[in-house]
Amino acid sequence: MDIRDFVQEPARLAALKKGVQEMKRRSQVNANDPRGWLFQANIHGTLSGSNPAWNQCRHASWHFLSWHRAYVYYFERILREASDDPALTLPYWDWTDPAAQALPAAFRDPQSPLFESQRDMNQAGSTLAPSIRSAAIAALNLRSFLPSPGFSGFGVASNQGTGKGRLEQPPHDGVHVLVGGDDGLMADPRTAARDPIFWAHHCNVDRLWEVWLRKGQGRANPTTNQWLDESFPRLFDETGNVVTPALKVSQLQKTTDLGYTYDKLTDPPGAAGAQPTGADVVTEPVKTEVAATVEKTKVTSAPKSIELSGDKVKEITSKAGVTSATGDEKRTLLRLQGVSVDRPSGSIYEVYLNLPSAPDEASSTSPHFVGVITLFGSAPDAKALREDHAHHAAPGVTGEEFLFDVTKMLRTLARQSVDLSKLNVTVLPRGASVEGKPRKVESKATVTIDKISLETAEPEKPR
Ligand code: C2O
Repeated sequence: MDIRDFVQEPARLAALKKGVQEMKRRSQVNANDPRGWLFQANIHGTLSGSNPAWNQCRHASWHFLSWHRAYVYYFERILREASDDPALTLPYWDWTDPAAQALPAAFRDPQSPLFESQRDMNQAGSTLAPSIRSAAIAALNLRSFLPSPGFSGFGVASNQGTGKGRLEQPPHDGVHVLVGGDDGLMADPRTAARDPIFWAHHCNVDRLWEVWLRKGQGRANPTTNQWLDESFPRLFDETGNVVTPALKVSQLQKTTDLGYTYDKLTDPPGAAGAQPTGADVVTEPVKTEVAATVEKTKVTSAPKSIELSGDKVKEITSKAGVTSATGDEKRTLLRLQGVSVDRPSGSIYEVYLNLPSAPDEASSTSPHFVGVITLFGSAPDAKALREDHAHHAAPGVTGEEFLFDVTKMLRTLARQSVDLSKLNVTVLPRGASVEGKPRKVESKATVTIDKISLETAEPEKPR
């Protein structure tokens, strides 16, 4: 149930608080109680400790959605039992709704067990960056769970079952880092599940998987046994025992098989009329490089602009405004390679091309917007929890890779007579907004981008 409806019934909210309180109490009595708050959070990730049940979260994987469904499912059973209310179910925070961009008030009350001081979005008036909601809508519009040739899929980036799908990166990751801020629990997968909002966030991610499936038009989960037969051992139920046999992915594809449904499975409000902005996310490596930076780019709190120029760039951009009759013109791709961060960052990083105005005014609804980079779980120590270990990286290159198809946006810019004789790539750190305005970012994290390049590729279309 949407948290906004959930809180209408005081007894429901009271039961949720009681369950959380009781689970926290159990952890204080015995840190190794599997039905305790901390143990449950540790199953997701820990900063230290060596219990085989800990540090299990599956990120950057085609089991991102399925593992988190199993995890949240058993957590909810434990919570329900701890609350003494057999009717209790987790509420979700629907951050795809423009009217729900603030952290739900029930989680911001300092007197409540749902409160967490180690987070950045506790203050009233603080909201998520608008590019997160747009990215979620773009993800829901994709029809393929798996990558379609060369393009990242809804549920996974690569054909090897690794890499972040479009619901994971940027929307899911973006909510994590903005809620947490540089030092918050939510910004690091090793501490995220200790914050009560984690569960309302993941309940929503789980719901969006279902929203996506319901949209039809070919949307479907993977059908290979390799995906279906995976199971998630070392999860506990409300008796405190390990669930045996472990739940298999084939058993958790339908929420009704697990005994729950969502009250709202329609497209996010306003999604239908929304003009998609930004570029498609590409996954395949492309070899025809047109221009590239030679030096590493470092981004901390201030926006950073990098120029890509030369005759070859001009040659491509001068043709950008013309559509060939055959529709088979080459694609132009922007690649950011070897992207790493030295510590958990509470910012998302928006990428723009040839911004006409001061970066402060940049908006993800503008034709200059390319896409969003999030680095949740990319900090050196947190990386062990990633499944792909940045699988895209070429030998000798560490860090993540982000590849965007900018063909369409260059065409739009050319038609608006934007000067494209040089390309200016701007990387703009963005925190949570305050009173609807982007807040000035003061980040402790430094992002390093080894190489930014422009490439051309054969025509393909995302599905
Ligand atoms: Cu396993 Cu939202 O993180």
